[in-house]
Amino acid sequence: MDDLKQIETDITAAINGVNDIDSLDKLRVAELGKKGRVSLLMRRLGKMTPEERQEFGPKLNGLKTALNDKISDRKNVLEEEALNARLLSEKIDITLTPTPEGKGSIHPITQVVDEVTEIFTEMGFSVAEGPEIEEDFYNFTALNIPEEHPARQMHDTFYFPEDENGKRKVLRTHTSPVQIRTMMAGKPPFRIIAPGRTYRCDSDATHTPMFHQVEALVIDKGIHMGHLKWSIENFVKKFFEVENVKVRFRPSYFPFTEPSAEVDIGCSFKDGEIVIGEGDDWLEIMGCGMVNSKVLENVGLDPNEYQGFAFGMGLDRISMLKWGIPDLRDFFAADLRWLKHYGFSCLDIPSLSTRPLTQSGQK
Ligand code: DAH
Repeated sequence: MDDLKQIETDITAAINGVNDIDSLDKLRVAELGKKGRVSLLMRRLGKMTPEERQEFGPKLNGLKTALNDKISDRKNVLEEEALNARLLSEKIDITLTPTPEGKGSIHPITQVVDEVTEIFTEMGFSVAEGPEIEEDFYNFTALNIPEEHPARQMHDTFYFPEDENGKRKVLRTHTSPVQIRTMMAGKPPFRIIAPGRTYRCDSDATHTPMFHQVEALVIDKGIHMGHLKWSIENFVKKFFEVENVKVRFRPSYFPFTEPSAEVDIGCSFKDGEIVIGEGDDWLEIMGCGMVNSKVLENVGLDPNEYQGFAFGMGLDRISMLKWGIPDLRDFFAADLRWLKHYGFSCLDIPSLSTRPLTQSGQK
């Protein structure tokens, strides 16, 4: 038993003598790992008499737990010391005048939000906002996606734990709930766009758990598909800066619109680069449709009096297309070199309306 006391004293001294996390981990493996002193003693248990084992076993377990606790305490101390040292060494004085090399730049998403906003405000839309932590009602139910609807599964939703009323909030899976909030908060006519962050549990080269969408909603008397088509075509021309761009409406399904369509734009691939506008290929850029009469009823509007259209578009996707950015994940990697390459000068305010349209659409 003296043995155990000695081992505890030795190892404790070694733990306290270690000054970095790597060495602490090596010490843990050496002493408590498979070939460590404690494990070797554990192995001896098998050869003991039941009486010896009854006495020695708990002591050995106690030693193991005590040493593991000491290691984890030491780890916490070392981690805190390392963090403090890092905070001290990375301290920056934000009151200093910026150097030219340290100049920031505008993220492509911010630039796209500005450009989209510019195009739609010029058409008479205003900008609406809604919360990113959303109630199930706005994100799904009011949009004609009831509890058992398969579209709920399609959204890979991030749910919050149940609240005291058994309700679970969600990270909004799309910007469409802003339609509902807008219609419930005011009186028609409505003409809004709602750019913002959206969330789905998905990650690969073209999906990130957080991404951006813009929603558009128009509600008035006598609104029809012609208004929808013109608005989208006008947007596409201005955004991609091309005079001639083929736009195709493909029948589709969304619970909140009827009829629904997906919008493709014409394109071609030259030397591995996309040219937007002409060509035999198509790229899908958004979902749209006439607001479903059930949605209008859900917000207290009479579908016989008011009609409207809506669309939703991925902002990350249209940025990738406009500037030829191949991997979506890079948008959120916070890499300054990437931002220097794809970013925009702080003075490069969106000036699409004053820039002439080109035939090719490339920047
Ligand atoms: N909310 C849809 C999505 O995230 C996009 C969408 C499609 C929005 C059609 C609309 C619409 O407003 O009419 O996939």
